[in-house]
Amino acid sequence: MEEEMADIEAQNEKQPEVAAIFKKANSAIALKFEDVVYKVKFTKSGFCGKITKTEEKIILKGVTGKVLPGEMLAMLGPSGSSKTTLLTALGGKLGGLLDGSITYNGKSFSNSMKRNMGFVTQDDVLYPHLTVAETLVFTALLRLENTFTKEEKIMHAESVITQLGLTKCKNSIIGGQFLRGLSGGERKRVSIGQEMLINPSLLLLDEPTSGLDSTTAQRIVSTLWELAKGGRTIVMTIHQPSSRLFYMFDKVLLLSEGNPLYFGERSQVMDYFSSIGYAPAVPMNPADFLLDLANGMFNHIYYASDLANDTLLLHFLKKSCMHALLAVVNSST
Ligand SMILES: Nc1ncnc2c1ncn2[C@@H]1O[C@H](COP(=O)(O)OP(=O)(O)OP(=O)(O)O)[C@@H](O)[C@H]1O
Ligand SMILES: [Mg+2]
Repeated sequence: MEEEMADIEAQNEKQPEVAAIFKKANSAIALKFEDVVYKVKFTKSGFCGKITKTEEKIILKGVTGKVLPGEMLAMLGPSGSSKTTLLTALGGKLGGLLDGSITYNGKSFSNSMKRNMGFVTQDDVLYPHLTVAETLVFTALLRLENTFTKEEKIMHAESVITQLGLTKCKNSIIGGQFLRGLSGGERKRVSIGQEMLINPSLLLLDEPTSGLDSTTAQRIVSTLWELAKGGRTIVMTIHQPSSRLFYMFDKVLLLSEGNPLYFGERSQVMDYFSSIGYAPAVPMNPADFLLDLANGMFNHIYYASDLANDTLLLHFLKKSCMHALLAVVNSST
């Protein structure tokens, strides 16, 4: 290990060349999901644990969308709106009663696609006693294919450390519940780094910025934006993005209790809601406005024209969004 760490130090001088590894994606993946419905069945027990009946709960209620290489999609919605469930389905990790179609370049999920895909979970799973450099070097040695030499794998790890701004803490231990180590933002960046190592063409991230200050969050999303501009497809769930983060997304999917309220270009979302009678009464972060809408808090804050009707909102939005969406999806196929 010491020898490998020394190798890393030696690579420092080659940084500009190393960072270039991540400039371009290995391949391009267009992700398309159509009318995705996910149901779970659970049993209700009565007295003494006796099973009384089986019930079905619909978690995703017909979600459709498309993300192209070079684009970054943000999935927004209140807690429990099924963001993680959809992301897990897109990552091919959701079993059970999943209906609809999810395709990658027009094909269904396969092992070769899995190798080209990175998935960053909401909770970081890292070994607390290793340092940042050790974690990423081990991951590189284990996950990168043997077409790379050992030196190249170490170089990849170093490149990720540089790209994610982890150079200052690369010799610090990760830490955990009972062991002081990295800060939350640094841990999150190490988790993202582990997935970046394989240079995935499709990167799915569950709340990569939660619990971070807005500057750190901005830094992480900027890195992801750069990865997207290198030809990758990036999908993330995000809670309460600041307005400057919001403007970095290409597409937005707004969910409310598993219902899609909007899917489309980020640049058109405010115009869309305004065209159906919902616009913020005061200048505000568009993400806050969307989350209030998805939470059903449109009564008090927003100007609503004759067109807007609280009780009909969900039904109306769902219908018109799906209509617009299907037109987009159909026109591009
Ligand atoms: N296997 C399951 N069985 C029962 N309910 C489930 C199951 N999976 C998800 N749910 C429910 O589906 C809903 C959506 O969960 P999900 O984790 O996708 O929400 P989320 O939008 O990611 O929320 P958060 O923002 O809090 O992470 C929740 O109400 C959850 O309890
Ligand atoms: Mg979640």
